Amino acid sequence: MSVGQSDALVFFGATGDLAYKQIFPALAGLVKDEGVEIPIVGIALPAWTQEKFCAHACDSLKAHGSFDEATFQKLCRLLQYVNGDYSDPGTFQRLKQALGSARRPLHYLAIPPSLFPVVVGSLAKAGLNVNARLVVEKPFGRDRASAAALNTTLHEFFPEDAIFRIDHYLGKEPVQNIVYTRFANSALEPIWNRTYVKSIQITMAEAFGVDDRGSFYDATGALRDVVQNHMLQVLANLMMDPPTGEDHDARQDQKAALLKAVCPLDPANVARGQYDGYRSVPGVKPDSTVETFVALKLYVDSWRWAGTPVYIRAGKKLPATATEVIVEYKPTPRATFAEKLPYSGYMRFRLGPDVGVAMGLRVKRPGEQMVGQDVELVLTEQAASLVPPYERLLGGALRGDRELFGREDIVDAQWRVVQPVLDRPPACETYAPGTWGPKSAAALIGSDDSWRDPKLSVTG
Ligand code: BG6
Repeated sequence: MSVGQSDALVFFGATGDLAYKQIFPALAGLVKDEGVEIPIVGIALPAWTQEKFCAHACDSLKAHGSFDEATFQKLCRLLQYVNGDYSDPGTFQRLKQALGSARRPLHYLAIPPSLFPVVVGSLAKAGLNVNARLVVEKPFGRDRASAAALNTTLHEFFPEDAIFRIDHYLGKEPVQNIVYTRFANSALEPIWNRTYVKSIQITMAEAFGVDDRGSFYDATGALRDVVQNHMLQVLANLMMDPPTGEDHDARQDQKAALLKAVCPLDPANVARGQYDGYRSVPGVKPDSTVETFVALKLYVDSWRWAGTPVYIRAGKKLPATATEVIVEYKPTPRATFAEKLPYSGYMRFRLGPDVGVAMGLRVKRPGEQMVGQDVELVLTEQAASLVPPYERLLGGALRGDRELFGREDIVDAQWRVVQPVLDRPPACETYAPGTWGPKSAAALIGSDDSWRDPKLSVTG
């Protein structure tokens, strides 16, 4: 059923923030780079004219894309705007007309999750679910039970192989590169386990705050916003077993196996923080206890990883904007040289905003004494030359490529990991903007370890 290229793209929430920041630039990229030439229908409530919609797309490309007149004109010729309420059957009749002879549309729900059931129901009533694909934005559900209920609702109208659950980290080049680097170099595999790896750290730091997303964020929090999805996908890429066989789902199967082996979080191993000033962001409740920072320690209960601590932290208003992974090796079995070494070798994957891979080594400092220095071999990539994640994801969904999307069992396994913290959240401490979160985060990490703050840049 889901084989072949979609012949139209419909996006709900066409006047929203996500459309403005990500979807129009991604569509322009698809038109320019992949020659996409299908009807593209935007749907939303405001009674905009076609001209206003195109002018909005133009603003979006200027603010968030790389605007060029020729691409914009091509995109404009493909764009149509349909306005109306999502519960009004008339809206979907107008959508049907706009789709004309298209037989395999892709519907993208860039709308609040509370509206998903009504939109998929209305699509089905209008017969627009037949042969169609459905792309749904994250977070997929609010917890394990609501994600399962959402699956049931979507499955009433769309089969699993027609559902594409977005996690834009899956479309990021450096996140895919983790898997590539691990499994294209046989030297890494023998040391990628509990015998050689001391700990793994993943830091997703953002220097900015919640800004204009107060009401979304206050209903979400850092754990649901970026840990349940982005951080656990990164973790799966880092820790999964090598894919085997030629099955299309081979990589997804290994990811699922890894995520199912992650021990559900112990709330005692979780620190939650909220930056001072968050409660005055428009849309945030004045007495909110939602976290803008979370740090945690977890374990993977497998032969490969048992006992190896994994530390994850993510937050807003931190000292830097950088996402980094550090895989730190265990110390040598005995000290051969009369030196106390701060680190014992590591790999650093820089995931953003600049990208690269670095290997930390200790080498001898030139001179008579056997003393050394820490050096890094760094391989960088120009981030600007990479295809943006949303362009890659939408291109994949149009082709029916499910590799870049969350599978039902994987999303469930991710909720399973965080569910104990949703049920019994530890107290949320205030932290000063521009610091590395609350004190309780520092206390999480073992006495022979410390948080490794991301570098200023991959080479910095
Ligand atoms: C989004 C979150 O999914 O990812 C945001 O909702 C976050 O809060 C963003 O800022 C980070 O994405 P990236 O690609 O900039 O790391």
